[in-house]
Amino acid sequence: MIRLEPIKGEKVILREFELNDAEDLYENWGTDEEVSKYMLWKNYKSVDDAINSINYYIECYKKDDPFKQYAIEYNGEVVGSINIVTSKRHKTGEIAYCLSKKYWRKGIMSEAINLLVDYYFKNYELVRISAEAIEPNIASRKLLEKCEFKLEGILRKKYFCKTNKHEDAYVYAIINS
Ligand SMILES: CC(C)(COP(=O)(O)OP(=O)(O)OC[C@H]1O[C@@H](n2cnc3c(N)ncnc32)[C@H](O)[C@@H]1OP(=O)(O)O)[C@@H](O)C(=O)NCCC(=O)NCCS
Repeated sequence: MIRLEPIKGEKVILREFELNDAEDLYENWGTDEEVSKYMLWKNYKSVDDAINSINYYIECYKKDDPFKQYAIEYNGEVVGSINIVTSKRHKTGEIAYCLSKKYWRKGIMSEAINLLVDYYFKNYELVRISAEAIEPNIASRKLLEKCEFKLEGILRKKYFCKTNKHEDAYVYAIINS
């Protein structure tokens, strides 16, 4: 039973994760330390770690949790993920994303972000969607700017990162006008 409606773009489809995406998740980005370099999660050690993550995503779909993790499907393969955490009360959301290194700089994540933002502005009537990127993550900061998110502020030394130090978090948001 599908609980999240797929969101279709020109290049990608955003859809629910299924258990048989575990190999793609594991192989394409779950084990890649370059992908997770500026993120807080630990790399996977086995396909079981990917299965556990997907089971958690599925539980969240089932209970209509505010956290919704979408698989990014490109040419029939799952190449990355993008999630949104929404607040029904405030009508706001926060996104986070990652993509297999093989597919960087093909316009995949900018399309995924634009699709998700348009969909949640329209269908959930969100007024604001935000995202955070740490200071050294230039790719993610430029990506958000390209998607018309505006830099709102810098939260100094917010996260202790794999860079082995506390990093500033750059907070970006887009408003539904
Ligand atoms: C950040 C990330 C998602 C970008 O995805 P992508 O699909 O390669 O991005 P796009 O191809 O849509 O690029 C859109 C814009 O982002 C910027 N950008 C993307 N990668 C960049 C890089 N390595 N350096 C500088 N700018 C970059 C550019 O402005 C680009 O537009 P252009 O290609 O017209 O110049 C990808 O590099 C990634 O998964 N990184 C690791 C995980 C991560 O950092 N996630 C975000 C945590 S906050």
